[in-house]
Amino acid sequence: MLTHIKSSLGNHIKKTIDSVYLGTVSLGSIEIEKNLELPKSLQHGHLAFPVFAMSKLLKKAPPLIAKELAEKLLGHETPYTRDAIEKVSPVGGYVNVFFKDRYLQQHLLKNVTADTAQLGFSQTGKDKTLVIDYSSPNVAKPMSIGHLRATVIGQAIRNLAVTQGYRVIGINHLGDWGSQFGKMAWALEHWGSEYPLKEKPFESLYKMYVRFHEEESTNQELATKGAEYFRRLENGDTHIHKIWEDIRKISIEEYQRLYDLLGVKFELVQGEAFYNSHLKPTVERIRKAGILEESQGAQVVFVGEDRPPCIIMKSDGASLYATRDIASAIYRHEVLKGDEILYVVGVDQILHFQQVFEVLKKMGFEWAQSCHHIAFGMYRFKDIGRMSTRKGNVVFMEDVIERAIGFVEKLIEEKNPELKNKTEVAQKVGVGAIIFNDLMNDRIKNVDFDWDRVLDFEGDSGPYVQYCVVRCKSILKKYEEKTGNTVSFQMPTALSSDEERALMLNLLNYADTLSAAYRQYKPNILSTYLLDLCKSFNHFYHKHKILSGENQDEMLSRLALVRITQTFLEKGLGVLGIQAPEQM
Ligand code: ARG
Repeated sequence: MLTHIKSSLGNHIKKTIDSVYLGTVSLGSIEIEKNLELPKSLQHGHLAFPVFAMSKLLKKAPPLIAKELAEKLLGHETPYTRDAIEKVSPVGGYVNVFFKDRYLQQHLLKNVTADTAQLGFSQTGKDKTLVIDYSSPNVAKPMSIGHLRATVIGQAIRNLAVTQGYRVIGINHLGDWGSQFGKMAWALEHWGSEYPLKEKPFESLYKMYVRFHEEESTNQELATKGAEYFRRLENGDTHIHKIWEDIRKISIEEYQRLYDLLGVKFELVQGEAFYNSHLKPTVERIRKAGILEESQGAQVVFVGEDRPPCIIMKSDGASLYATRDIASAIYRHEVLKGDEILYVVGVDQILHFQQVFEVLKKMGFEWAQSCHHIAFGMYRFKDIGRMSTRKGNVVFMEDVIERAIGFVEKLIEEKNPELKNKTEVAQKVGVGAIIFNDLMNDRIKNVDFDWDRVLDFEGDSGPYVQYCVVRCKSILKKYEEKTGNTVSFQMPTALSSDEERALMLNLLNYADTLSAAYRQYKPNILSTYLLDLCKSFNHFYHKHKILSGENQDEMLSRLALVRITQTFLEKGLGVLGIQAPEQM
């Protein structure tokens, strides 16, 4: 959208420079386009072109060049200058360009009417595949708040990739292998009858998990049993394997409930166990690459002075988390044909991924450069410190979501008890609040979790954006009920107040926002944009009487702007994985 506006302006600037400076300044139109900036305030212009690079080439002061260029840009009339440009003004080292309201409006309209389902989409990722690993909880344990981050950040990045034209393969890399499954199998076999496994399968499972780890610390025999059962599992004992399958199934069913609530989807559920048959060949390939060395009885790859070596095989022949991730990357490249391979995992695993990617590089895989650890910070609650599932001192994802929904239910009872579909609204708003609160932070930073902020309808929050959508909808509904007509996207007249222009320019920035958010794998770029959009909509809404204007054309144009804003906000929220209710 703004991209198109930028590239047309870039072209015009290029042509002008070429004809004025006759080859002494060689700037490509792409380069010019890249340099175009959004001025701080709309009073200064809609796009600004800095002339500092030209000033160096021409050995002339920037303000002089800006003045010269500004004049020449409107020097002779072309269809472009006639239709697009309102005014050009030099300010210091910048040439500031103002566009005609009509021109902005037409661009906006072209985009919103083309294909609403693909609003703001680009083709950058066409014919490319993104493989993205997210959520990836550890079987038999409830998902923690850390997994909430891994889930919603992953889902948002995958949705962003879709807007950029990528084919996306989302993978839930379950932690479904390791010595803890020997323990769980033993516990299920010996303690299973003491728990209501039929009625509350997952809860029972987790209770046994906690109990085993507690008793194990004082009872050496348990530890031995756990190890023995895991060995049997690894050796293909069908009885233990069946128990393992049950544990996995119960866990997946439990997670699915939360995924449904969050609207999260995967193409593949391939946990660590999936790579069992890949391990031997993987170790062989590492050996063949000549980088496998023995160290303290284990097989390792050295990955640089400043990092510990990556252990590939323990002295007893057991494989490790890293071995599986080396195998996972190879699979995702060779079989799934991933052009970009992302791992959405907490920042505490930074070393793990550095080691894994370094091993891949040392194996000679150039594509290792397209593997990225999409790291994120931790949640910080006022009362609870770092989380650890083992000790049972954890914040569970489900509790946080349920609590948010509960809060919203209470709010509805207090403020709007007559509301229709209360349960559905509470769910959308509660879940939306949690997701937005997560995604509005730069992912690498820790999130200070504060209930007051999460549900602050007037502050920077999910409900604030949702409320803006509801406000748009209610304006449109009022008009439609009064007149029996539906509001279209068409604007019969040019809207030219500052608030309207600001809102339109903001809307025009949607597509660029999507690509920037994807390029940097940062959903918060989109969240911040949506907050800004709401703010500029609210300025417009408070300044103009949308439904009681005297001029019919003006009213219809404003209504169209309301509908366009609603569409952008809803689409944008959708990319973040959030739905807006009809009313709230
Ligand atoms: N199960 C791991 C955890 O909960 C995350 C796995 C992430 N994915 C991966 N391929 N390592 O910490």
